[in-house]
Amino acid sequence: MLLESVIGHRGCAALAPENTLAGIRKAHELGISAVEIDVVLTADGQLVIHHDRTVKRCTDGRGEVLSLTLEQLQQLDAGSWFAPEYAGEKIPTLKDALLLIQQLRLKLNLEIKMHRHAPEQLVEPVIGQLQQCWSDTRNLVISSFDHQALKLCHQLAPEYNIGHLFETLPSDWEAMAAAVHARSIHVCHKKHKTAQAEAIKKAGYELYVYTVNHTDNADHFFNIGVDGLFSDEPHLISPPAETK
Ligand code: G3P
Ligand code: MG
Repeated sequence: MLLESVIGHRGCAALAPENTLAGIRKAHELGISAVEIDVVLTADGQLVIHHDRTVKRCTDGRGEVLSLTLEQLQQLDAGSWFAPEYAGEKIPTLKDALLLIQQLRLKLNLEIKMHRHAPEQLVEPVIGQLQQCWSDTRNLVISSFDHQALKLCHQLAPEYNIGHLFETLPSDWEAMAAAVHARSIHVCHKKHKTAQAEAIKKAGYELYVYTVNHTDNADHFFNIGVDGLFSDEPHLISPPAETK
């Protein structure tokens, strides 16, 4: 399997501040063996781990990530908003996250968030950083909602596994997945239908569903052939019997 049947979403978003090194450590402490994190580009061309376009929700600062420098971003507190014991937690660089994830021997789904950047602005440095810092391509899936970004990923580095993210599965999903040489399809749990799962699996792709935070739903998804679930509370999800 490319990833795992249970994947910590944004690290372990229900139990530690999302997209932080503390969140990645929390997932590992709970025995989770794969995490998903989001990568974005700063004003000065650096790569950091963050989900939103702005820093308002998950730090004590204001403004858009793309108009703040790495130095400005690293002055922010990315932990206090979540809980006092995480005060002082920083927005991590992609490099620091990659090093920690490998040190903990976790698999990684790196989601590229474009926000308002052009694909080449973000994809080229992401691939460069991965080629410099990530040693085992088997333990990595790069994903994005941005089709052009995924195309460029494959052109620049065909050795990486690609996951095509969709919010709603389009009718031409198979052509889109083939165009980026995807190995997996990642879909939203709210809009997912059993027939689609069957079609995706039949076409030979691994199938991952985000973001599943209830154990009942988890059983349903495993029963219809989903390979893995992204969860904010991954420790509450029991993997299907054969992978336990
Ligand atoms: O990669 C799965 C999931 O993280 C996609 O949605 O908005 O949580 O990044 P989002
Ligand atoms: Mg994500």
